[in-house]
Amino acid sequence: MNKNDFIIRLETKNDYYEVENLAREAFWNLSFPGCSEHYFMHVLRQHEAFIPELDYVVEYKGKTVGSVMYSVSKLIDENGSEKPVLTMGPICVLPEFQRKGLSKMLLEYTFAKAVEMGYDTVINFGNPDNYVARGYKSCKKFNVSLENDCYPAALLVKELKAGALDGRKWVYYQNNADAPCDNEEEVERYDSLFPPKVKAWQPIQEEFYIHSHSSITW
Ligand SMILES: CC(C)(COP(=O)(O)OP(=O)(O)OC[C@H]1O[C@@H](n2cnc3c(N)ncnc32)[C@H](O)[C@@H]1OP(=O)(O)O)[C@@H](O)C(=O)NCCC(=O)NCCS
Repeated sequence: MNKNDFIIRLETKNDYYEVENLAREAFWNLSFPGCSEHYFMHVLRQHEAFIPELDYVVEYKGKTVGSVMYSVSKLIDENGSEKPVLTMGPICVLPEFQRKGLSKMLLEYTFAKAVEMGYDTVINFGNPDNYVARGYKSCKKFNVSLENDCYPAALLVKELKAGALDGRKWVYYQNNADAPCDNEEEVERYDSLFPPKVKAWQPIQEEFYIHSHSSITW
């Protein structure tokens, strides 16, 4: 595969089904039997926090093989000052196109766009394996916690501009765009619009549980 065959471009309405189907292929059975990321994309695009200018896909010979989306969230410091930050996700690449540097291409491209738009920080929950090579660090290193003073191991922070978080204590308030995904019936209904797929347990779901329930305490 030639790197020049991959085109990064903004998502259009015509891509929605194919992109959601690719998310379904990428996330299926990863964190629990089935997945909800295709439904999340559907509701995220309609949420006020969604940033259409950072909604990019990678195309290969007319086929959409990767996608990344962003939304706005906020950090609040101890004096109550608010700072808008980017929440990255979902990001996904079709399984047969993974480990070829496509998410690297997508992230580096969209980080540069984000800087042009004036953002200086990107935050997301995720498996550190996927992000540390992109310059993300533990939230603890930037003094960014959740409201209950918890520093989740999966809460990853990247300064797009060095020093943007300047060492003060911050609390991360993620937008609530993913709240509808808790509605299992709706997720199920939306899933029925796609080709049938078998839900199954696999060991990686335990890894996901461990990552998503761990926090850093020292
Ligand atoms: C995670 C995902 C988006 C990565 O996309 P990708 O195109 O395969 O990633 P890349 O080939 O660009 O690799 C990026 C880096 O992550 C590393 N990496 C990728 N997958 C990895 C894995 N499973 N384990 C360890 N490292 C991994 C690569 O070695 C690479 O590091 P490098 O830049 O130092 O070479 C893709 O695997 C995917 O869609 N997975 C399913 C959905 C998902 O988990 N999304 C992220 C939610 S947290």
